[in-house]
Amino acid sequence: MTDRRNTNRRSQAWFGAQGRSGMLYRSWMRNQGFGHEVFDGRPVIGIATSASELAPCNAHLTRVAEAVKRGVWQAGGLPLQFPTMATGETLMRPTAMLYRNLMAMEVEELIRANPLDGVVLLSGCDKTTPAMLMGAASVDLPAVMVTGGPMLNGKYRGQDVGSGTHVWKFEEDLKTGRMTEEECFFAEGCMARSGGHCMTMGTAATMACVAEALGMQLPGSAAWPAVDSRRMETAQAAGRRVVDMVEEDLRPSRILTREAFENAVRVNAAIGGSTNAVIHLTALAGRVGVELDLDDFDRLVREVPTLVNLMPSGTYLMEDFCYAGGLPAVMAELLGGGLLHGGPVTVTGRTVAQNTEGAERFGTDVITPLDTPFQPAGTGIAVLRGNLCPDGAVLKQSAASPHLLTHRGPARVFDSPEAYHAVADDPDLDVDENTVIVIRNAGPKGYPGMPEVSNVPLPAKLLKAGVTDMVRVCDGRMSGTGYGTVVLHVAPEAAVGGPLALVRDGDPVVLDVPARTLRLDVDDAELARRRQEWTPPAERYAGGYTWLYTQHVEQADRGADFGFLRGGRGHEVPRDSH
Ligand code: FES
Ligand code: MG
Repeated sequence: MTDRRNTNRRSQAWFGAQGRSGMLYRSWMRNQGFGHEVFDGRPVIGIATSASELAPCNAHLTRVAEAVKRGVWQAGGLPLQFPTMATGETLMRPTAMLYRNLMAMEVEELIRANPLDGVVLLSGCDKTTPAMLMGAASVDLPAVMVTGGPMLNGKYRGQDVGSGTHVWKFEEDLKTGRMTEEECFFAEGCMARSGGHCMTMGTAATMACVAEALGMQLPGSAAWPAVDSRRMETAQAAGRRVVDMVEEDLRPSRILTREAFENAVRVNAAIGGSTNAVIHLTALAGRVGVELDLDDFDRLVREVPTLVNLMPSGTYLMEDFCYAGGLPAVMAELLGGGLLHGGPVTVTGRTVAQNTEGAERFGTDVITPLDTPFQPAGTGIAVLRGNLCPDGAVLKQSAASPHLLTHRGPARVFDSPEAYHAVADDPDLDVDENTVIVIRNAGPKGYPGMPEVSNVPLPAKLLKAGVTDMVRVCDGRMSGTGYGTVVLHVAPEAAVGGPLALVRDGDPVVLDVPARTLRLDVDDAELARRRQEWTPPAERYAGGYTWLYTQHVEQADRGADFGFLRGGRGHEVPRDSH
């Protein structure tokens, strides 16, 4: 085995210390059964795991951590596993997004405060991946991401069912009488039949692919199902690799370049990825000082077709994606078409072009070739501007209805998602299929935490009449597993006085996605008058984390990070604790 001893390592400020201090650092570690030899200057690798039974998508990560450990030992490093919080999407209220920044802070501080030379980041559920990347980027020690992998395909009555996506479908079926309550209970279990994160191309799978596209996880890593033995093999390989990365001083700041972000934005379009990637990538770019604004997302994806036919935009699921070749096959296809930068260096120490060399696509249904794509170029995420969203809004075209992409209709305004839900099933609700449902006060500061509430189900009376989609406009987010013609992330949000706060019932809303505009057809003088009358909502929080959040969260177009967390704070060894 390579001799890894080096007394100049960061961790040696602890474990190589003389006298009383060194004794304190080493002695307590030895209560775990380590011999004195592990303090000889070998790389100390932290394994940050967000395993939690409260975040079911991450619950199996303890097993993944064991595989990483094996790899670190094999390469001559010292692995030390530590827990981080987990922002589980399904249980956390009011929304896991409220806690992404808290988790990022925790990851950052834990890495810096401890005797680590490198780190492996274990995530799964939606926000856990960006939170880990953001925290690690702000410390800038060698870091590899290992996402926990998707659940096996859901199977219900001989059909594939996708996590999230089928929740919305089943809900509609229940409302329209196509399914009974009992059938729904049964289907719940069929949708989640193994450990792992959502197996639709929701936010978790999207962020796993995005992490791989950025060069932060090993090629192929995003797609292995959580229970596939090759998931553990990948984790072990990541453990081995990070030890070398420490020797090479290959840090996130060398990987997370502007070109790497451009690759990630384009890959997100090619996979039909989640709109949440826009927010998370923007926030991550802010951590490493890369200029990436909303218009980049629109401009960069215009010539990128959707190659991956996965729910919610398509038919298949992550297991199929894995067997079809996974992300390396997609990246090879894009690279061949000149749609990716081949030059950025990745965690392998090799470039994107080198990583994808020889990557094969199996079949043409799940991952389609560039010249016969699943959906043509220009159907990705569109960024809208106009007097209703001066700082931007986004819409996922591949999840929308083509006939609604240009639409003019009267607004029906709800001051909260709850206000809408209270009347959504009312047979006398004053809406028709042309109505634009406006849901406001669901932004970063307003909710708080910018929840995934924007794709509210259609009013029951319209569902029963066979209406399948309507334009909805909201300052919140949408689940990556969701679909519909939904304008999201309207900025500035209503709670800080964005124009969304000024909309009234009956105002004509004009959506023109080809022209990239979202307008309120009300004249400026009238809007100015309404603004005079507008009063900001009272502050609801006097203390605690939620107070901190509402004081410091930035708007959606800035990634909803805390202003004071932008940039990096490095990995200088803090002063001695004894
Ligand atoms: Fe955790 Fe979808 S709910 S990944
Ligand atoms: Mg989600």
